[in-house]
Amino acid sequence: MKALDALHSRTSAPRLTEPLPDSLVLENIYKAAFRAADHALLRPWRFLIIEGESRDRLGDLLVKAAREKDGELSEEQEQKLRRKPHRAPLIVVCISSYKEHPKVPQLEQDLSAGAATQNMLNAAHAQGVGAMWRTGSMAYNQTIMDGLGLTEQEKIIGFLYLGTINGNSKKVSLPEIDDFFQTW
Ligand SMILES: Cc1cc2nc3c(=O)[nH]c(=O)nc-3n(C[C@H](O)[C@H](O)[C@H](O)COP(=O)(O)O)c2cc1C
Repeated sequence: MKALDALHSRTSAPRLTEPLPDSLVLENIYKAAFRAADHALLRPWRFLIIEGESRDRLGDLLVKAAREKDGELSEEQEQKLRRKPHRAPLIVVCISSYKEHPKVPQLEQDLSAGAATQNMLNAAHAQGVGAMWRTGSMAYNQTIMDGLGLTEQEKIIGFLYLGTINGNSKKVSLPEIDDFFQTW
């Protein structure tokens, strides 16, 4: 797909299924992260790849975090949490990894990590791979952050779900450009 066509047509794919994209396709997605705008080239990000049985471990962690926050869970609540990581064959945990720098505040570094995540969404779409960026309260939960091994300088920017698109992609309708871009 041409770059502009990809940028103009990307949508999220909430329903994802097997198979996992092959390794070359995945590498193209990961490489796109490095072309995010990045003040002072700090690369203020890192990514955890969760696939296969690691998704069960993430499910365990979600249950642990929910128990610590809300107390005992019903069987149904627990099963619902355990199913979440199985919504896609692969999840990339996108982490903003703050590096102290005299000219680059944390906000800029978070934005850069977000741009890296968006680049991966676009690279997935350009190759016909389904992707969706999710957070939810668990992205901001200390038990989850500790369980995934984040340091105090790090935060979760999002969980990037990747896989084969299940169902139809939605049609894109672009807003009026002039509603958002005004000459000053
Ligand atoms: C930081 C961030 C977190 C998001 N978290 C969620 C989420 O937890 N659940 C969700 O349904 N959509 C979430 N979204 C929105 C979807 O990824 C998606 O962009 C939105 O549904 C619009 O669909 P589109 O990407 O096809 O335009 C999030 C987006 C961003 C940028």
